[in-house]
Amino acid sequence: MRRQSVCGGAGWWWRAVAWWGAVVLGHLVSRGSAGLLDTNPGLAYNFYRTSCPSAEATVKSITSQQVAANPALAGRLLRLHFHDCFVQGCDASILLDTTTPPNEKSAGPNGSVGGYEVIDAIKTQLEKTCPGVVSCADIIALAARDAVSYQFPSSLWQVETGRRDGPSSLASNTGALPSFSAGFNALVQSFATQGLDVGDLVALSGAHTIGKASCSSVTPRLYQGNTTNVDPLLDPTLATVLMSKCPNNPSSSSSTVDLDGNTPFKFDGTYYTNLQNKRGLLASDAALMQNAAAVTIVNDLTNPIKFYAAFAMSMKKMGRINVLTTKNNKGKIRAQCRAP
Ligand code: HEM
Repeated sequence: MRRQSVCGGAGWWWRAVAWWGAVVLGHLVSRGSAGLLDTNPGLAYNFYRTSCPSAEATVKSITSQQVAANPALAGRLLRLHFHDCFVQGCDASILLDTTTPPNEKSAGPNGSVGGYEVIDAIKTQLEKTCPGVVSCADIIALAARDAVSYQFPSSLWQVETGRRDGPSSLASNTGALPSFSAGFNALVQSFATQGLDVGDLVALSGAHTIGKASCSSVTPRLYQGNTTNVDPLLDPTLATVLMSKCPNNPSSSSSTVDLDGNTPFKFDGTYYTNLQNKRGLLASDAALMQNAAAVTIVNDLTNPIKFYAAFAMSMKKMGRINVLTTKNNKGKIRAQCRAP
C-alpha cells in the first residue's frame, strides 16, 4: 500500500478535514483538562529536544518505511503499545526476551502481538546517533502514533516522552490485559485498574478500526457451546461470512479476519457504525453496546472528528500508565530493547 493510494481521491480530503478538526478539538479539550497534566509524573512533549534532536524524526522515518512496505504493521504497533502499557505500565517490559521466569511476550494474550522488529530497527539506529538516550518505552509510544498517522497529513496525536525502561517482564502479569470474551463490567474494571474510564474504554476500543484477529478470538461467538448457535449480538450476515473464513476446527484457529471488515486498513472510525450494526468482531466489541452510557459515547464517536479527538486524549492517558521517569527516579535506558 502506497501513501498515495491510502490518501487518494475525495477520501483524502475528507480525512484531512476530519483530522484538522480533530487537532483543533483536541487542543481545546487538552486546555480544558489541565488536571491530567498536573498529575504528570515527568513526561513532556519533545523530551529529547536537546539530548537527541533527531529522535522523533528517526522513529517516524523508520516506522513510515516499514508500514509502507507492510501496512499490517500499523495495527501491530498500535496494539504493542496497548499491551505494553496495560502490563506493569508503559515500560517496554513486553520487549524483554528474559526467559526465567517466563516473560510477557510468551504469555497467551501476547501470542499474536508483533512489531518487535520495527522497534529493534529504530533502537539500533538511535543507539548509533544518541547512545543511551532514548528509551524503548518511548520508541513504542512514538512508533504506534507514527504507524497509524502514516495515513494522515500529520500526526494524529501528540506523544509525551521521557519514559524509562523497566527491569523485568513477567508472564504472570498479563492477566491485566482484558479478554476478547470480556463482558462490559469486566472491561470497565480492567480499564479502571489502569486509571481509565468508560470514555477511554470506548475511545480506545476504536483502535479496532484497523488490524486483524485470529479465528480463535472469534469462533466462540460463531459456534457457541460447539454448536452452530451464533452469538445473538452478532449480525447473522457477518456471522455467515466469518464462518466461511473460520470453520469450526482447530486448524483454522491461526487464520485471521479483519477487525473492521469494511475498511480494514483505514483508521477511520467506521468501528462505531459497525458496533451500531452488530458488526463488531469481538465479543468485547459487542459488549460496548450493552450499556446505555457506552452506547451514547459510541453514537457520538461515529463522528470522525470527535473520534480522532477522543482517541488522542485517551492515548495520552494510556501512555502515562505507571511510567518510570527521572522524576520518580525509576527505570533506565536500555542499550538493547530485548535485554534488561
Ligand atoms: C477493550 C479491550 C480490548 C480487548 C478485549 C482487545 C482484544 C483484542 C484481540 C482479541 C485482538 C485480536 C488478537 C488475535 O486474535 O490475534 C485485538 C487486536 C487488536 N487490538 Fe485490541 N483489545 C482491546 C483494546 C485495545 C486497545 C485499547 C487498543 C489500542 C489502543 C487495541 C488495539 C488493537 C489492534 C490495533 C489490534 C489488531 C492487531 C493486529 O492487526 O495485529 N485493542 N484486540
